[in-house]
Amino acid sequence: MKWAALVGGYGSNLEAMLEYGNPVHLVVSHKANVRALEVAEKYHIPAAVLLPKDFRVREAFDQALLNLLQRENIDALALAGYLRWLDPAVIAQYRGRAVNLHPALLPSFPGLGAVEQAYRHGVFWTGVTVHFIDDGHDTGPIIAQAAVPRYREDTLEDLRERIQHHEHRLYPRIVEAVDTGLVRLDGQNVVWEESKSWINGHY
Ligand code: GRF
Repeated sequence: MKWAALVGGYGSNLEAMLEYGNPVHLVVSHKANVRALEVAEKYHIPAAVLLPKDFRVREAFDQALLNLLQRENIDALALAGYLRWLDPAVIAQYRGRAVNLHPALLPSFPGLGAVEQAYRHGVFWTGVTVHFIDDGHDTGPIIAQAAVPRYREDTLEDLRERIQHHEHRLYPRIVEAVDTGLVRLDGQNVVWEESKSWINGHY
């Protein structure tokens, strides 16, 4: 499948995906001058910037995104630091072929600032979730999770780094699993091929 990575920030997960060998054919950023675009350039992946301020309404932005994805024959989407909710039109087009990475154990701490929310809440465990994207916000069917401890002496930055370490290991492997059909969405259920869900916890 031809994947597009939707980004908007530092691009460390994009880098992990490219390093691992995920077939990313296009990078789309909703911000200019972000490091993720430098990562795309380093790996010679075509990149596009779509700025929300250039569109009068949200639907027009997402229509431009959809046009771009279809023009480039993109089959699947991996969100990696893309800080916008996708329009239902885009989600409908890529249902079962769009994944998101969230830096907490969903359904706890959805939305922005998840690491900080968990840290301030005093959790002993938090983690990383990869899920298929549905119409809700961080609500889609969960494909894989990694639990990450928060130690008493941790600063917020320590916890953030530990979570990122796990994101970089887990996300490329799950993208690969979706790409190869090892895991798929059947209605609202995540279905793994035979007993291959070993990937949970053994990545
Ligand atoms: C990651 O923590 C991811 O979970 C969240 O946004 C962050 C992106 O970081 N959705 P990066 O741009 O990949 O470094």
